Amino acid sequence: MKSPIAVVVLAAGAGTRMKSALPKVLHPLANRPMVRHVLANAEALKPARIVGVIAPGAKDVAAAFAPYPTVVQTKPLGTGHAAKAALGALKGHAGPVLVVFGDAPLVTTETLKRLVTACAREKAAVGVLGFVAEDPTPYGRLVVQRGVLERIVESKDANEIERAITFSNSGVMCLDGRLIASLLGAIGNDNVKREFYLTDVVGIARAAGHKAIAVEGPETEFQGINSRAELAMAERALQQRLRAAAMTAGVTMTDPDTVWLSADTRIANDVTIGPNVRFGPGVTVASDVQIKAFCDIEGARIGRGAIIGPFARIRPGSEVADDVHIGNFVELKATKMGKGAKANHLAYLGDADIGARSNIGAGTIAVNYDGFGKWRTVVADDVFVGSNSSLVAPVKVGKGANVTAGSVVTEDVPADAVAFGRARQVTKKGRAGPLRAKLKARAAAAKRTKKK
Ligand code: UD1
Ligand code: CA
Repeated sequence: MKSPIAVVVLAAGAGTRMKSALPKVLHPLANRPMVRHVLANAEALKPARIVGVIAPGAKDVAAAFAPYPTVVQTKPLGTGHAAKAALGALKGHAGPVLVVFGDAPLVTTETLKRLVTACAREKAAVGVLGFVAEDPTPYGRLVVQRGVLERIVESKDANEIERAITFSNSGVMCLDGRLIASLLGAIGNDNVKREFYLTDVVGIARAAGHKAIAVEGPETEFQGINSRAELAMAERALQQRLRAAAMTAGVTMTDPDTVWLSADTRIANDVTIGPNVRFGPGVTVASDVQIKAFCDIEGARIGRGAIIGPFARIRPGSEVADDVHIGNFVELKATKMGKGAKANHLAYLGDADIGARSNIGAGTIAVNYDGFGKWRTVVADDVFVGSNSSLVAPVKVGKGANVTAGSVVTEDVPADAVAFGRARQVTKKGRAGPLRAKLKARAAAAKRTKKK
């Protein structure tokens, strides 16, 4: 049997370069806190435990780790010091311990797995994920002699020869659970930064006669996030992965680079997505849906065969049943559209229930807010609402009713009734000519007064 893994996530660093009141690891990527990506990738390894190392008072960070426990690193004295803070939470664990960084969310489960597997196969006390850096300046260098990883030298402590090494430390490490306490315990801070470097465990393990290995991975996965610019780069990389996964699952994207997804977006197969579409958190799309250009969808379920957009906005709490059509410049908020219902042009439907097959005319507004409270509009099945109508909530329109164009509906409409909520038209024959003459004279008089 394979021994169970433990994962330690280091997230107690200051993150000063973000210049933010929000802790770095809580900055969102694909609408999910950075550290939740790290946790999701670790969870896929089915570890026996996950432990977060956080800064004192970082309550929000602890909450983001839930249900996993966190320990506090009392002072940011380095990555080795941080890892040591987790030792208490690792008591009794004899399997491999994977140490990852909370600010490096792009490391995939597959790459983590490769490291753990290699360590088990090679019976290594320490395994490090390394990469050949295009610019190794900011990284620790992996010193490999005759195929054996001997030590890691931090950039600031490296001599000229070591600085020329491009094989760099990703920060991800796998330590033998039976040795971790003694390895971490031997780390000192005799270096340029006066910090306890986790990277020192390699040299310490070697000196004690243990094996250390380096496993190479792709540089693209090891991009850590220290600044807003790096956050944007990571967002781009994650978006690319999410799009690729959606397309692999059978989604067509006419211009994938302009489709923005959330980490939790669920899109079934045979959905077509046009250019410039954004999915906020909490969206599920069933199969055979067409989402045309420039739609913004958040917190909503879209049923099979629906046609959305172009230029539609669907806001949280909305449920769009099968075969619904939502057209251009239509906004839904907490609104349910029944099967086959249509709102094709220029409408705001807030807090509304629209029945099956009902047709909502152009310019219709479900008037949901009176300045104090929000109220629901309930439209039953097979209703026709004429263009430019206001349905002033709370109000109900019964099954099969017809609301005539331009109506302001303030009273419930019973089933199969026709409702006129507008002034009766008055037509005066032959009066256009005299009206024109009158208006012309008035305009001329106004011009004369201005000249004087
Ligand atoms: C670290 C590695 C370096 C590697 C690089 C990869 C060490 C000494 N150096 O350097 O070899 O190439 O990552 O990006 O490990 N943290 C704490 N407590 C601390 C200090 C850090 O929890 O006291 C956490 C941070 O929140 C962060 C991670 O550890 O998630 C890495 O810390 P950071 O200071 O960014 O390490 P680097 O100097 O980049
Ligand atoms: Ca870093």
